[in-house]
Amino acid sequence: MVNTKINLCGVTLDNPVIPASGTFGFGYEYADIYDINVLGSLSFKGTTVEPRYGNPTPRIAETASGMLNSVGLQNPGIDKVISEELPKLRACFSKPIMANISGFSLDDYTEACRKIDSEEQVAFIEVNISCPNVHNGGMSFGADPKAAEEVTKAVKAVTTKPVIMKLTPNVTNIAEIAKACESAGADGVSLINTLLGLRIDLKKRRPLLANTTGGLSGPAVFPVALRCVWQVYNAVSIPIIGMGGVSSSSDVIEMMLAGATAVQVGAANLVDPFACKKIIEDLPREMQRLRIDNLSDIIGGAH
Ligand code: FUM
Repeated sequence: MVNTKINLCGVTLDNPVIPASGTFGFGYEYADIYDINVLGSLSFKGTTVEPRYGNPTPRIAETASGMLNSVGLQNPGIDKVISEELPKLRACFSKPIMANISGFSLDDYTEACRKIDSEEQVAFIEVNISCPNVHNGGMSFGADPKAAEEVTKAVKAVTTKPVIMKLTPNVTNIAEIAKACESAGADGVSLINTLLGLRIDLKKRRPLLANTTGGLSGPAVFPVALRCVWQVYNAVSIPIIGMGGVSSSSDVIEMMLAGATAVQVGAANLVDPFACKKIIEDLPREMQRLRIDNLSDIIGGAH
């Protein structure tokens, strides 16, 4: 009998598999097709202080082994998330929840984090400083070590919950950003958000996406994500949540060997809504095949 449990920032998860924010709604939508309590945790749809309609359409484009999205943080706003979405999630999910929070200013981040802090089932706050699809916010905080540090400090001041900073790969040195977050008090980092990309409509001779650029995700980015996790593991001592193109139990193990404590699954949910369930079911078999008794023993094991 293998042990898939891991400890993330002091919280024990039954397994390391977490649907990534923006690919799994508020979770309860999936409860109609399977028991989502098989998940380790769940990172809900990126939430801002104010409701947002998101970017104009088209905002999705296919790519080889992946996709571009430019959704633009569509969400009902923190108050509705707390009053309407979380009660529905609580009704079908008893595991620790990861709240994904985005913002356009320090005040935005702190207000949303202060509000979510009183939600008992929220075990982690994942602070998105890496969205490539909005102007004046998002990725601009995560591309500069000083700004990343400021957001981390501001958020840490308003919550007692573990704060996990979500990082962008669209920088020269992701380890430098991770170190800035760690020194400002972050309890963990999650990486990678999507890679900035572009596609052009050949007939119209214009960008396919209304927002021109979008974020690339899917199996095509897996080696980039793995490299980033590897580099950040060498630079910090806080836990890392690895993500980017993960679509199988062997990808989960590879991410953990690179240094991830937990692993998020994103674009794979859009290809197959059962992706997380299948990965979790397959994980013990893959561990046996690779002679792994305790999953937590392999974290960073390839270094
Ligand atoms: O456009 C979006 O809502 C994507 C968010 C993100 O990648 O952080």
